[in-house]
Amino acid sequence: MCGIVGYIGNREVYPILIKGLRRLEYRGYDSAGVAMINKKGDLNVFKRKGKVSELESFATGGDISGTVGIGHTRWATHGEPNDVNSHPHYSQTKDLVIIHNGIIENYAAIKEGLKKRGHTFLSQTDTEVLVHLIEDIKQHENMKLGHAVLAALNQVIGAYSIVVLDKNDPNTLVAAKKGSPMVIGIGTDEFFIASDASPIVEFTKNVVYLEDEQVAIIRRGEELKIRNLKDKEITPYVQKLTIELEAIEKGGYDHFMLKEIYEQPRSVKDSMRGRLNAEKGDVKLGGIVEHEAKFKNAKRIIFIACGTSWHAGLVGEYLFEEFARIPVEVEYASEFRYRNPVIYPDDIVIAISQSGETADTLAAIELAKAKGATIVGVCNVVGSSIARATHAGSYTHAGPEIGVASTKAFTAQVTVLTLMALHVARIKGTMPQSRFRQILYELEAIPHKIEDALKLNTLIKEIAFKHKDSTNALYLGRGFTFPVALEGALKLKEISYIHAEGYPAAEMKHGPIALIDEEMPVFVIATKGANYEKVVSNIQEVKARKGKVIAVVTAGDKEVKEMADYVMEIPETDEALVPLISVIPLQLLSYHIAVMRGCNVDQPRNLAKSVTVE
Ligand code: AGP
Repeated sequence: MCGIVGYIGNREVYPILIKGLRRLEYRGYDSAGVAMINKKGDLNVFKRKGKVSELESFATGGDISGTVGIGHTRWATHGEPNDVNSHPHYSQTKDLVIIHNGIIENYAAIKEGLKKRGHTFLSQTDTEVLVHLIEDIKQHENMKLGHAVLAALNQVIGAYSIVVLDKNDPNTLVAAKKGSPMVIGIGTDEFFIASDASPIVEFTKNVVYLEDEQVAIIRRGEELKIRNLKDKEITPYVQKLTIELEAIEKGGYDHFMLKEIYEQPRSVKDSMRGRLNAEKGDVKLGGIVEHEAKFKNAKRIIFIACGTSWHAGLVGEYLFEEFARIPVEVEYASEFRYRNPVIYPDDIVIAISQSGETADTLAAIELAKAKGATIVGVCNVVGSSIARATHAGSYTHAGPEIGVASTKAFTAQVTVLTLMALHVARIKGTMPQSRFRQILYELEAIPHKIEDALKLNTLIKEIAFKHKDSTNALYLGRGFTFPVALEGALKLKEISYIHAEGYPAAEMKHGPIALIDEEMPVFVIATKGANYEKVVSNIQEVKARKGKVIAVVTAGDKEVKEMADYVMEIPETDEALVPLISVIPLQLLSYHIAVMRGCNVDQPRNLAKSVTVE
């Protein structure tokens, strides 16, 4: 996610902005920028692609004086990482500057309207459109900045936390938020603004957490004023900060991995934002619209990926074959690239990568591209090497994933693949309308159902404690949940160092059943679906050999509850969407076991977050 800082008071603002941006570096970013107004009333902006240190070098020698300013670290969502797309962004007259964290869904339509009114744009970002809209309203309605921001946000659809600065009014900062976090620190004759409390806590413990659809008008020497989008004044609720800096960066969680597991209701929602409208029966991924004909005529789809992303590709196989009736192959990128594979020009190759920098996946893309295939990317990092190497693609918008073990990236990838398969099914007409609509409604409900699954945390800690000393583990699933069994096994082995294998449940009798004894925990995904009864039989086979069964079941299940040692009940959903929910307890399970074993959860031994070597 982007990082936001702002300050107005009596101190020199630049050092406060830079230090604040450094405090927010953990959020992940690809560019940074600051804007200050000096005593002469000049608005000075410095912004660059790259790290905060590069911004500082760039600003050296420049006029960085002033006691009011804003700063930003950008995690690209619209427009790749470069100097022009970095924040702050100017309005048309360059009198206003804005910084923004979030996604403006209807920015394209607003941009078209502003262009017709003579506005010209320098960047590809949704943020620049917003500051132009604010100025357009301010000028035409002859409004003060605060009310112009309020009026503009009433036209906006999406998520935002913004701070706006007006060159002609250096005594005011206007901030607003919806869906993205924002904290206002209240000092003595000074105010601080930030995405979280980490840049503020050393200056003041008195904070106001801005609520959704609230606008803060911050003026030197005055009390903080807050209005909602209906222009009603809201009394600020000032709280005392209690947690320490270190904890704040992790949002109060002990590890980034746990924070990212709990972010999934929001990250899954963000991966659907602007792409799904169940009521209208609409699903559209802008990134593949230009290639709809290719998808319509494709005789084969090949997924290429590594690790967790490869597991997402396996879910994609079931989704595309069921919804879009296109044959699918799922390839380890490292195997694919060295095998001299048979590739046809009408093949569609979908490369999945959280980091967008995995060397094997990148090499596999180049090979497939050279043989004439159409390459589509599903990446989490805008402007990454893989994103730039593909012909088209859709970003997952999960926000930066800091923990080495992938969690929210997986569910975001599966969400985007579900949307993509539905989009292709729609244009091919391969799904009955009733099922299509049912899936759309179910998909919209997934973030809430993930929230419900997260409530299993206390039970899962108890299960983790019972199995933390295991030396081996088996994960079983069938159909859509077979890839989840593989993902659950990968999570356990990569952070707790317990050997674990994922298997299609029916395959157990072809060998792994020899491993079953009283010591071996067998984690089974036994949710309601076409294969339910068969999975129940597999559980009975394990129990007949005194094996221990811990099952993920559909809430209310009685049959498995009778036979398993533990059950983790998750909300019912369409079978095709079960991967998005059934993976949650397995993520939590591996996390708690790893913590109980004293492992380094966020940086497991021998692992890197992005494998940029072969
Ligand atoms: C997942 O928990 C692992 N960290 C690893 O398997 C990862 O999924 C794999 O290296 C692929 O990375 P990518 O998605 O960034 O390409």
